[in-house]
Amino acid sequence: MSFPIHRPRRLRMHPGLRRMVRQTRLSVERLICPLFVRSGTGVRQEIRSMPGQYQWSVDTLVEQCRELAGLGVPAVLLFGIPTHKDAVGSEAYRSDGIVQRAVRAVKEACPELVVITDVCLCEYTDHGHCGVIAERHGVRDVDNDATLPLLVRAAVSHAEAGADVVAPSDMMDGRVGAIRRGLDEAGFAHLPIMAYAAKYASSFYGPFRDAAESPPRFGNRHTYQMDPANGDEAMREVAADIEEGADLVMVKPAVHYLDVLWRVKERFGLPTAAYHVSGEYACLKAAAANGWIDEKGAVIESTTAIVRAGADLVVTYFARDLARWIRDGI
Ligand code: PBG
Repeated sequence: MSFPIHRPRRLRMHPGLRRMVRQTRLSVERLICPLFVRSGTGVRQEIRSMPGQYQWSVDTLVEQCRELAGLGVPAVLLFGIPTHKDAVGSEAYRSDGIVQRAVRAVKEACPELVVITDVCLCEYTDHGHCGVIAERHGVRDVDNDATLPLLVRAAVSHAEAGADVVAPSDMMDGRVGAIRRGLDEAGFAHLPIMAYAAKYASSFYGPFRDAAESPPRFGNRHTYQMDPANGDEAMREVAADIEEGADLVMVKPAVHYLDVLWRVKERFGLPTAAYHVSGEYACLKAAAANGWIDEKGAVIESTTAIVRAGADLVVTYFARDLARWIRDGI
């Protein structure tokens, strides 16, 4: 393979040929668009730390979903912002909660869309943690086993509203198994679970907590989300979720965890999603707004890297832009 017989540049000279030998291709079928929904009508409130992303009311959310479906984006991931938060996150599992209402409306308007719901309590609790709080030896922390039944209720209520997939993001131990049993008992044995299997305690969730109005009011999420330093632990988390019945697994965040993504795809071979998270979005947006990077190039490069590392599905706030660029031939 040595020069001058071999000249790798030969395949890069003609733009058509360069495209032909391109190994990783982005396709719209891979994209999942996260959306935030709150009460009211006609709401389209831009999220300060996520330019170009909005909190929607159910009616404007439906319009947004129509647009995405029209662009060929196959799936949305819904997050609710409740009007009322309490210690046990009641609105997360009320049949007339914000996400449940949103699911019904979106399914009616765009039956072809795959509607995925995030199952977690942090948007719904007044303390902002992903489960209920208990105090032990004077230390407040999330009570794993007391949280499980509430997550099950949330997942079942989403299923009853018509969700196509539920996606637990809380990182409690045993939640995939509990949700699987709960769904089966409620008559939803056919409903897939997309598990946020390797979810790290990341500083890159900051803008999301702005968007979902869900920062923890005390402490942090370190007792339930994973230490960014750990790769092997991700293998154990993913294996456990698969054993408990996960149909799709996710690695989150994406770009800083491409090694984990690669290992998960290689080892388990399940349909694997990666979540290009709010902070990753915000960094690209901020640099682009300052003229420091080319937004389109950087977004396509980041998304391509995520797919190259093994993601079958990409959860991304850039879904709408990517769908347009892909349609127009990138
Ligand atoms: C809920 C949840 C979070 C995200 C997805 N689901 C926030 C968190 O764990 O703090 C983050 C998504 C993003 O940053 O884009 N637990």
